[in-house]
Amino acid sequence: MWKGRFSQEPSQLLQQYTESVSYDWRLYQHDIQGSLAHAQALTVAGILTKDEQSLIKKGLLEIEKEIEKGEFLFNTQLEDVHMNIEAELTRRIGPAGAKLHTARSRNDQVALDLRLYLRDAIARLCQLGAEFQRSLLRLASRHSKVCIPGYTHLQRAQPVFFAHHLLAYVEMLARDIGRLTDCAARMDELPLGSGAIAGSTIVLDRELIARQLGFSRVTQNSMDAVSDRDFACELLSALAILGMHLSRLSEDIVLWTSEEFGFLELSDRHTTGSSLMPQKKNPDIAELTRGKTGRLYGNLFSLLTTLKGLPMTYNRDLQEDKEAVFDSIDTADLALSIFAEMLDAARVREERASAAVADPMLLATDLADYLVLKGMPFRQAHEAVGRVVAESIQLKVPLNRVPIERLYSISPLFESDVASVFNLQQAMSHRRAVGAPAPSNIEDRLGYWTRILKEN
Ligand code: ARG
Repeated sequence: MWKGRFSQEPSQLLQQYTESVSYDWRLYQHDIQGSLAHAQALTVAGILTKDEQSLIKKGLLEIEKEIEKGEFLFNTQLEDVHMNIEAELTRRIGPAGAKLHTARSRNDQVALDLRLYLRDAIARLCQLGAEFQRSLLRLASRHSKVCIPGYTHLQRAQPVFFAHHLLAYVEMLARDIGRLTDCAARMDELPLGSGAIAGSTIVLDRELIARQLGFSRVTQNSMDAVSDRDFACELLSALAILGMHLSRLSEDIVLWTSEEFGFLELSDRHTTGSSLMPQKKNPDIAELTRGKTGRLYGNLFSLLTTLKGLPMTYNRDLQEDKEAVFDSIDTADLALSIFAEMLDAARVREERASAAVADPMLLATDLADYLVLKGMPFRQAHEAVGRVVAESIQLKVPLNRVPIERLYSISPLFESDVASVFNLQQAMSHRRAVGAPAPSNIEDRLGYWTRILKEN
């Protein structure tokens, strides 16, 4: 493509080292979509005749079909997807094909293709995110009456509804989808027309191209536009945070499916066995997702590091953006899909959950609140209940079995109605503040998310 000023062929190793078509072929649809809009603008500007434009269109659509069917041979000697498609087009239709690159550089072309590709990828990831939210919601609804111990420091803290725990992830996923949507909104600018760095003396109607490709705006600085990859960083960052959320859920699943917790059982289809220990049933999907979060973080750092030393404007380093972006998209795509499937087939072991949540220690704070409601300052109540806890440990009896005389000696505010503190249902129904797990709040939130996530 540049042979005019060269007198030697490129070295084999250079070709191997610099080619990107082995992975950027994935941009083919978007590359063709961009070229069709560019050809339209060239026609309006009088560079292409209508006939030439039709030839280009027909040729590009044929090439697209062949790539789809796996019949197109990409050639690494032609470096990238852009040159492969253009070279083949020109081979097929002649001079009209050779006019297509007028007022365009691969620098603005690849900036465009990547935006178009990511726009579609984000739309799909948002859908998968919502699908996964629906699975969380279905699992929560199937077991909406089940309570489990909630943990802080991985120590039993207070009882919560299992649904409340799952709904926490629904909230996280909503923020993830929000970040993806924000990223798509900021990315919604057409870079084509920026040329290699400084536009072109042949002036095309960029607004027309933008409209045709569904962009809301055109970029306003050609130097920025050819070297900007902020949108890819934002996407990788949003996916890194999504990965962090999935990794935390993975950790919960690993704990819950252990016999020590035993709150959840995954289906045989979503677990693996051991080649040595016949009894094993391993939560590999959760473990791998926890592990793959490392790649999602790595991809973000890889791109940030690639970008940090670049002088203006386009530098070949930018070609290194794609593999990171593709890998994060693929990883998030698969993780969301398999998590949805896994949770739909999972079973809550309600008997294990109720046994665990029956531990009266979980209601020690409620006992302190009992004293507060009788007039004791909370700090004092906390200390008094601390002494009740110590008694229960010393006497080796559950917290609600500490003899009433012992309670009286700790505080005269304890009365016979203290037993009612340990009624779990009642304890849950008292947690009525917005965001707390009273049964009525859980019902409200399940209803809210069901409405929000209703498929259109
Ligand atoms: N394959 C290149 C990339 O991904 C396309 C742009 C190449 N531009 C250039 N001036 N060599 O960034």
